[in-house]
Amino acid sequence: MEGDLRRRALAVLERNHRDGYTVPAQGLYPFQWCWDSGPIALGWAAVGRWDTAWTELARLFSAQWASGMVPHIVFWQKDDSYFPGPEVWATGRNPPTTGLTQPPLAVSAAARLFAGDPDRDRALSSFRALWPHLVAWLSWIERARNGPHGASVIVHPWEAGMDNSPSWDQSLSVVPEVGNEHIERRDVATVSADQRPSSREYRQYLGIVEVLRTAGWNTERQPADSPFVVEDPGFTAITARAAADLAAVAAAAGVDGRESARLAESLGAGLHALWDDEMGWYRPYDVLTKSSVGPATSTGLVALWAGVPAARVHRMLARVDSWRSTLPAAIPTSQPDDPSFDPIRYWRGPVWVLVNWLVADGLAREGFTDQASALRTATRTLVAQSFSEYYDPRDGAGIGGQGFSWSAALTLAWLTEA
Ligand code: GLC
Repeated sequence: MEGDLRRRALAVLERNHRDGYTVPAQGLYPFQWCWDSGPIALGWAAVGRWDTAWTELARLFSAQWASGMVPHIVFWQKDDSYFPGPEVWATGRNPPTTGLTQPPLAVSAAARLFAGDPDRDRALSSFRALWPHLVAWLSWIERARNGPHGASVIVHPWEAGMDNSPSWDQSLSVVPEVGNEHIERRDVATVSADQRPSSREYRQYLGIVEVLRTAGWNTERQPADSPFVVEDPGFTAITARAAADLAAVAAAAGVDGRESARLAESLGAGLHALWDDEMGWYRPYDVLTKSSVGPATSTGLVALWAGVPAARVHRMLARVDSWRSTLPAAIPTSQPDDPSFDPIRYWRGPVWVLVNWLVADGLAREGFTDQASALRTATRTLVAQSFSEYYDPRDGAGIGGQGFSWSAALTLAWLTEA
């Protein structure tokens, strides 16, 4: 059973592997995606394919911008099955990329590969080659994306990696929409439209892209250019943990980790400033309207990945437990009793394997081992049926894209024993 599950997971990764990188899902996402690369690299490492794992990260960082930003999609080859493609972004890069980023999960993956690779020479040389890129990305986030609370700012919902989360509804409501003639969605050819973002949201996503493109993709001043500027707890938590993970392995790698340690501290403080004590949750903060926004969603939950004071962990977990009486498959990505909740629409309710892993790993690291292992067991039940992009929290049915890379990769790296 265990062996069979691993074989099937590996088959998904192999099918999605291209020349040096792995696409998230055939057809639906035919390029390299930034934060997918982290868990995907860990999946390759879990089956002993260390060279493939290191190459996955090296390819991503080879597309880094001079500012330090790592783009959220690298368009390694031409493929018309995805919109918006390189001609919409028009960033003028080679290889073509988008002009936005995603949470720097690949940094933590690099630290983990370094710690785990049994070939110490390869570990040292691969990690040291990546080191300046890792540091440059985090420094850019600190320099160009620092919000009023000291948390990290996103300038587009796509940067959160949680595209249509209800967390962004309020901030998006004032964003200009592009006209219908600029939209050529391809996603709804593969996945039922009721499981994807709405057309209005797509027009707003493209509206922000248009504004930033017109401003010349200046990655040093995107918060000043964008009509959407939000301090994001999930992005901040992943950046804080990335910095802490670098600091933890720096000495063994023979590099100076002091700057990373300082950054982990300051981002941790920024993250904790986003705690809403009344709600008992970490909430995004809209920089333009100067207000905390949205219901309890996955982006606040991901704070657990960076480590949260125990009393807050208990409050957050009690809330998540209360959801299970009506929604047995853990963990819904948004608060079920909020009117914005939708059990099948992407980030508005469905369960995502990546979120469960970030939460469980953070819990285990902080000593909540029972809760972490219960979440692992619950997630394993989901992937045993399918390696889906996400799952309906009412019955655990796999929905969205199928043959999804990070669901398979985390099956190998987290949900099954080698
Ligand atoms: C979707 C997800 C995003 C992910 C991408 C590729 O856009 O919202 O988080 O990185 O697909 O899997």
